[in-house]
Amino acid sequence: MNYQTFPTYAEMSRAAAKFLADIVRAKPDCVLGLATGSSPIGTYDELARMHREEGLSFARCTTVNLDEYRGLAGTHPQSYRYFMNEHLFSRVDVRLDHTFVPNGTAADPAAECAAYDARIKALGGTDVQLLGIGPDGHIGFNEPADEFTDATHLVDLDPSTIEANARFFDSAADVPRQALTMGMFGIMGAKRILLVASGAAKKGVLEEAMHGPVTPRLPASILQKHPDVTILFAEK
Ligand code: F6R
Repeated sequence: MNYQTFPTYAEMSRAAAKFLADIVRAKPDCVLGLATGSSPIGTYDELARMHREEGLSFARCTTVNLDEYRGLAGTHPQSYRYFMNEHLFSRVDVRLDHTFVPNGTAADPAAECAAYDARIKALGGTDVQLLGIGPDGHIGFNEPADEFTDATHLVDLDPSTIEANARFFDSAADVPRQALTMGMFGIMGAKRILLVASGAAKKGVLEEAMHGPVTPRLPASILQKHPDVTILFAEK
């Protein structure tokens, strides 16, 4: 694993954006695996700036997001589709019909999950998967469990995840209890993985994920088995 630390979130975000922009420039029709949460916001801001000021174009890119809350429509301000539209898609020239986020309101979540994996497969996997990491070591919404799940699946969110994500809602009671998440097939199938994290609270779990045993009790530990992982960590 390639691990780099930065003094500030802004510097880390610039490095993450450059990493992704280099991939987009080298392969304009690339498939970008994207994440939501607070960690990649600075990266998306910087990508938007590069689009505006440097002509970085996403016109031929396809994007595939990691996850979506069960029960939230894309018009809900806390949905991950809404987040992506706000933070990246509406600020660059990607074709909206080339952006994919699991449908949180699908009547048949199992069918939605199967279709999502079929899409990833049809695209030939992602060229890069951007990840954050949860305080319990989750990636996407793959929560600590007895085994790794390969397929995109419906998951019950861990109480610690509900707690951590309550900051985006009026209260913890408003956080959906389930989500649709890409599994290890989609994540580990990426040609390259870029994980961004910041702050002291993430340092311990990141260390454990990188150097501890590979175990589904700490889902990010599976990244040790991927041949091309870059972790960018900001001290604050
Ligand atoms: C988001 C996602 C989650 C977050 C993780 C960290 O699409 O898949 O795994 O990356 O919960 O969230 P932040 O960055 O808000 O600390």
